[in-house]
Amino acid sequence: MNKVINVVRASLPPFEEYVEEISDIWESRWLTHTGPKHQQLEKDLESFLDTPNVELFSNGHMALELALRVLKVKGEVITTPFTFASTTQAIADVGLTPVFCDINETDYTMDVDKIEDLITEKTEAIVPVHVYGNICDYKKIEEIAEKHHLKVIYDAAHAFGETIDGKNVANLGDVSMFSFHATKVFNTVEGGGLTFADDALCKEFAAIRQFGMYGKEDAEMLGTNAKMTEFHAAMGLCNLRHVLEEINKRKMAYERYIERLTGVEGIYICPQKENVSYNYAYFPVRFNEEIFGKSRDQMANELIQNGIVPRKYFYPLTSDFTIIKEKFVVQDTPIAGKIADEILTLPLYAGLSEEEVDRICDIVMK
Ligand SMILES: Cc1ncc(COP(=O)(O)O)c(C=O)c1O
Repeated sequence: MNKVINVVRASLPPFEEYVEEISDIWESRWLTHTGPKHQQLEKDLESFLDTPNVELFSNGHMALELALRVLKVKGEVITTPFTFASTTQAIADVGLTPVFCDINETDYTMDVDKIEDLITEKTEAIVPVHVYGNICDYKKIEEIAEKHHLKVIYDAAHAFGETIDGKNVANLGDVSMFSFHATKVFNTVEGGGLTFADDALCKEFAAIRQFGMYGKEDAEMLGTNAKMTEFHAAMGLCNLRHVLEEINKRKMAYERYIERLTGVEGIYICPQKENVSYNYAYFPVRFNEEIFGKSRDQMANELIQNGIVPRKYFYPLTSDFTIIKEKFVVQDTPIAGKIADEILTLPLYAGLSEEEVDRICDIVMK
């Protein structure tokens, strides 16, 4: 009986390394609240991501909501419907109106030629997503943002550690958000981070995640509790030491997929760009039913029957969510709709063996 292969598998450091990392917590009794591990992880991430400021949070979603609040974004935000629920929910949950821009058919990031048509006098920000680690056309987005005086907050949940044109993605936009959720390339079990150039934002983010308190007594703004604990930060410190190895293992599995699936008629795999160093976070494949002979749903069912668990990332579009359609007038995004119907994310994680990739590909090609 073949073992079940899930779409993702969490990376963990050696057990002893984590035990060693947390052992001094039993002396300090400092469990949360910007402790030494939290501080160390911020420093280590600044250095790893080659970026001036990292602030840590309880998860990526809260980080994104708080970025929108601290940057005082109001009104309308142009974003993509081809993403995880969090991006759209964060925008809506802080009282903003999501305006959905279609995506391009090559790498599924926002179609930058369609952004300007959506700008109104109420538009204040753009929230693009580096979906699957495909980096958005940041130059064009920067140009549009400057021209129309818009803030840019990247959802970089999938893009940890990636570089484009020699620069780390953490340095794009006004703020970038990373998710350190268990299934991400780099994880702190649950966790998230914001990266940004403006030093003045550090104390704002520190206060808003701590009930709006800059100091110890008064609360000068409305805030919440979105702190990362010392145990989560300790997991991050350990995982960060191994993340390059983990990315390399992902790359080996990715390359095996490419070897096996390239050229198969009716299958589309995003091409990689020369100026990007990838983290191999996901392996999305599109099935064109007419040419391939099977729909995405048929393919997904066949894989599941054979003990492989793919995911329909990202289906449905977030603009099709019941609550979003109830609350907002959503834009028509035909390309995103077509891709959401054809896409299937196949298993990819550090340690997925060549034999396992072959097992998956054999079912796909049968
Ligand atoms: C694109 C995207 N944005 C935001 C999030 C939210 O991150 P978190 O789960 O850390 O809250 C996730 C993933 O979980 C994601 O995939």
